[in-house]
Amino acid sequence: MGLLVYVNGDFVPRSEAKISVFDRGYLYGDGVFEGIRGYNGRIFRLDQHLERLYRGARAISLEVPMTPEELRDVVLETVRRNNLHDCYVRVILSRGEGDLGLNPLNCHFPATLVVIASTIALYPREVYEQGLNVITCVTRRNMPTALNPQIKSLNYLNNILGRIEVNGAGAHEGLMLNHLGYVAEATGDNVFVWRDQRLLTPPTHAGLLEGITRQVVLEMAEEMELSPREEMLTLYQVYSADECFLTGTAAEIAPVSRVDGRMIGDGKPGPITKRLMARFKEVTVAEGVPVG
Ligand SMILES: Cc1ncc(COP(=O)(O)O)c(C=O)c1O
Repeated sequence: MGLLVYVNGDFVPRSEAKISVFDRGYLYGDGVFEGIRGYNGRIFRLDQHLERLYRGARAISLEVPMTPEELRDVVLETVRRNNLHDCYVRVILSRGEGDLGLNPLNCHFPATLVVIASTIALYPREVYEQGLNVITCVTRRNMPTALNPQIKSLNYLNNILGRIEVNGAGAHEGLMLNHLGYVAEATGDNVFVWRDQRLLTPPTHAGLLEGITRQVVLEMAEEMELSPREEMLTLYQVYSADECFLTGTAAEIAPVSRVDGRMIGDGKPGPITKRLMARFKEVTVAEGVPVG
């Protein structure tokens, strides 16, 4: 049986999973989304992902057409119907169909809600043993005063522009700086460094998505007494770090071995990164909402 996609109340085969060309998600990127992962028959940090979706929707004045409990059930049912044990779930919420004007008031209620349950492998397997080759993008991360990166909006063009630079450089990923030149995050992941016996990641006010995986790593690092701190990071601090890694739902914890041609540490995943990767594996298979 092929993929079954939830579209506005129905579960339909992939070929029938369609939305209108007048949908504002398509016309303007007017909406929010989530990428959620399931391990071992459980959905990891489901409630945190849904909370972020609802917060983002509130920030753009978009009413979610169901309660968080109902959406939780839709996500679980989509995974169940697709018989997935390990999965990647995409929840996409757009303001729905409107006319060709910009005004959201001319948009017909309700919002469009799509849930896709599939699988994902972001980077090749060997990257987790050898580390990512990362560049710094010339494109700056969106200014929080223009479009706050804390909103996981359907408009990812800023990140895609960064990703185009990564492709052009033949690298695996790209760091994006904020408008002041501090490190914000990678094009689709958060960033951490280990230096001076402390684990550092930029604070959300540096202009980044407050990643769920980032939060999990901060919690694990606290338990492991790695002195995690949210601090503004310069590129100098990244280049001269003992270790560096990226975090994200799709990427999980991905070691970084090179940044802009500089070798990080000895160019291999370091001991702290490896310990966190191992602990993350344990946490992801043990925690989570059972799909049932
Ligand atoms: C821009 C950006 N930063 C960071 C992340 C990591 O967030 P999370 O750990 O919640 O997947 C993502 C992935 O969704 C992202 O798109």
